[in-house]
Order: sequence, then structure tokens, then C-alpha cells
Amino acid sequence: MDFGEVVGRRRMVRSYLDVPLPPGSLERIVAAALSAPSAGFAQGQSLVVITDASQRSRIAAAGNEQEYVEHGLPPWLSLAPVHIVVTVSEQAYVDRYRETDKLGPDMEKLPWDVPYWWVDGGTTMMAILLAATNEGLAAGFQGNHNFDGLGAVLDIPESEKPLGVITIGFAAPDDRARGSVLRGRRPPTDTVHYDRW
Ligand SMILES: Cc1cc2nc3c(=O)[nH]c(=O)nc-3n(C[C@H](O)[C@H](O)[C@H](O)COP(=O)(O)O)c2cc1C
Repeated sequence: MDFGEVVGRRRMVRSYLDVPLPPGSLERIVAAALSAPSAGFAQGQSLVVITDASQRSRIAAAGNEQEYVEHGLPPWLSLAPVHIVVTVSEQAYVDRYRETDKLGPDMEKLPWDVPYWWVDGGTTMMAILLAATNEGLAAGFQGNHNFDGLGAVLDIPESEKPLGVITIGFAAPDDRARGSVLRGRRPPTDTVHYDRW
């Protein structure tokens, strides 16, 4: 698929067919995730890739899927054949920036007003969303704030913070567009500034 088409087609999908991914797709999506950049090349991002149906059901329960279903939405978390959870480790950045080619072993605290581990988790997530689109698949995201105990379900260590759950699969025909389609994007005249704000 042409890059412009991939970017243009990507949107969050919240209804899936109970159909597995074609061979090779997941491997290519994971490879794309691993190509993401990171501050200082700290590589503080990790992935939990879930295909097991019972694990997906536990994730759906932690994500209160039943409540959404009671409101007439499809069970999109449990139906999507693949879930990917991106996690980030702040400690990986502290360790990396204590190296001598960065701020050195005496660095007490990272002098950043931007927590770059979250930025890097976002770039990993976008790589996954675009790679899934490029495979002719659909992907969605439910943020960590909408889960109770996602880390416990997946045995994620305390030092690793999950962003949420990315769902991947074939879109069901009943997927109801939300987000950017319904609200419309802010016009570029409001959001893009050239040479100065
Ligand atoms: C950080 C983040 C958190 C999100 N959390 C949720 C969520 O918990 N549930 C959900 O249905 N969509 C979630 N979304 C999807 C957004 O609603 C969606 O990206 C936005 O409405 C724009 O729609 P589009 O991606 O289809 O263009 C989240 C997106 C991001 C980037």
C-alpha cells in the first residue's frame, strides 16, 4: 500500500471479525514496532503480544467490555484476534542517561520537562497502527485508564508502565466510526504554524 494511503486509511476500529491474521502479518507488525525511535536510543519500550483467547477474555474483563456491550457496542476487545500492549520503562532512560556519552553517572534526575518514555511509547504505538493498516487490517486502542489491573493480567513488572491495549484484526462491517470521523479534525489553519506560532 502506498504510504499516503496507509496514513489516510488509519482510524481506530472498535468492531472485529472473529478471523485470525494472515500468516506473516503479526511478525511484520511487530518488526515495525521495534523500528520506533527512542530518546538517547534508550529503547525503553517493550511489547506484550497476546493471541491466546483466554488471555484476551481476561483483558476484555479488565477493560470492562461487558459494560460497553450493555450499551450496545460490540465486544471488540475479546473478538480482536491480536492484542498488543506497549509498555515503557522510565528506569531505562535514567540508566541510559547515566552512561558516559550522555549525562554521566552523577546524574541524579533526568533534566527533562517532557517524559520521553511516553513519547517513545507513542511512536511505537503509531508504528503498530500504521503497520496493521498496511497489512489491510484494522487496529484500535483502549487506553490504560480504562482498564482495572491490566498489568496483573499480563504479569507486567511494576517498573513497566502499559499504555493500554492495541487491538488488531479484520474490521467488522458494523464498525461505527467515532472520533475523527464524527468530530472532524481541527482545520490546519488552527493547528499548523509556519515559522512562528
Ligand atoms: C492516548 C489515546 C488514548 C485513547 N483511549 C481510547 C479509549 O480508551 N477508548 C477508545 O475507544 N478510544 C481511545 N482512543 C482512540 C481515540 O478516541 C481516537 O484516536 C480519536 O477519536 C481519533 O479517531 P481516529 O484515530 O479514528 O482518527 C485513544 C487514543 C489515544 C491516542
